Formats: sequence, C-alpha cells, structure tokens
Amino acid sequence: MKKIAVYPGSFDPITNGHVDILKRGMKMFDEIIILVAYNPNKASLFTPEERVEIIKEVTKNWENIRVDSSAGLLVEYVKNAGANVIFRGLRALSDFEYEFQMALMNRRLDREVETVFLMSGYKWFYTSSSIIKEAASLGGSVKGMVPEIVCQRLQRKFAELKGTKP
Ligand code: PNS
Repeated sequence: MKKIAVYPGSFDPITNGHVDILKRGMKMFDEIIILVAYNPNKASLFTPEERVEIIKEVTKNWENIRVDSSAGLLVEYVKNAGANVIFRGLRALSDFEYEFQMALMNRRLDREVETVFLMSGYKWFYTSSSIIKEAASLGGSVKGMVPEIVCQRLQRKFAELKGTKP
C-alpha cells in the first residue's frame, strides 16, 4: 500500500524549517501532499492561492509532492485524498500542547488517521512564519531562513502594502 501523508499548515509563508521537515519526510513516505489549510475568517499575509503558488515554485523539482489547499476539516481531506497520515514538524516545547490538542482532536474525529511528528532540525527550533514576517515587515533580512523566492515575495508584499516599489 502506498504511504501517502498530508503535511498541513498555514504556510504563511513556507520557511526553511518546513522545507527541512519535508525533505526528511520524503524519505519516509511515498507521497506527501502539502496542504495549505486556511481559515477564511483568519487574517493572513499571503492569500491561499499565493501560498500554493509559492510552495509549488519551491518544490517544483521535487518528486512525489503535491500541493493543494483546503478550508475544510483536515481528517476529511486526508480520507478523500486516499491518505491516512497527518505529518507535522515539532519545534520547541511551546509547540507540544497545541500539537497534542490537534492530534487528539483529529484522532477523535477519525481513528484511522494517525499523526506522525518529526522533530524539527535544531537550526529551525525557534523559527516561525510569524517571527519571519515581523522581521521582514520592518525591513530585516530573513535570508537563509526562507527559500529565496519567499525572500522576494515578502519584500514585494510589504512594498505593496506600504505603497512603495519593491
Ligand atoms: O501552520 P499551523 O498554523 O500551525 O497549522 C495549523 C493547521 C492548519 C494544521 C490546523 O489549523 C488545522 O488542522 N486546520 C484544519 C481545520 C481542522 O480540521 N480543524 C480541526 C482539527 S484540530
């Protein structure tokens, strides 16, 4: 049986921490579906379409990767995609409670779906999309923390928002 995992997240935007988890996950699963799971009522920097487009660009030369988006229930998506694993990265201790809460809720919703965690690389323990966005919004360099295309897209987005040219 093909081992298909769904790697859900906000990916607003994708970081090198996500990329590290993905590359290691690709050795564990036959296929990974990167799922931009979004809440239409929650503010985000990039639209779901933009996030999908950026992730597609980052992963364009990778094999056995699919990119999709959904605003629905995660376990439903996993079942409909023919997968049975939710794949997540775990960073510092602060992630644990939130991740356990989600994993237990997903397990309650569908006992056939397992959540598999991979410990984040130590380099990425304290990186997050939020902190990266904050630094980038104030003109700080986030080079090395995100793929090159994300650096460009962040610059462009903040220039647009501030009404200045990138
Ligand atoms: O990158 P994030 O913000 O930590 O990802 C959180 C995400 C998208 C994985 C989580 O919010 C999620 O699973 N959303 C899908 C909606 C859902 O199924 N919720 C119920 C189970 S917790």
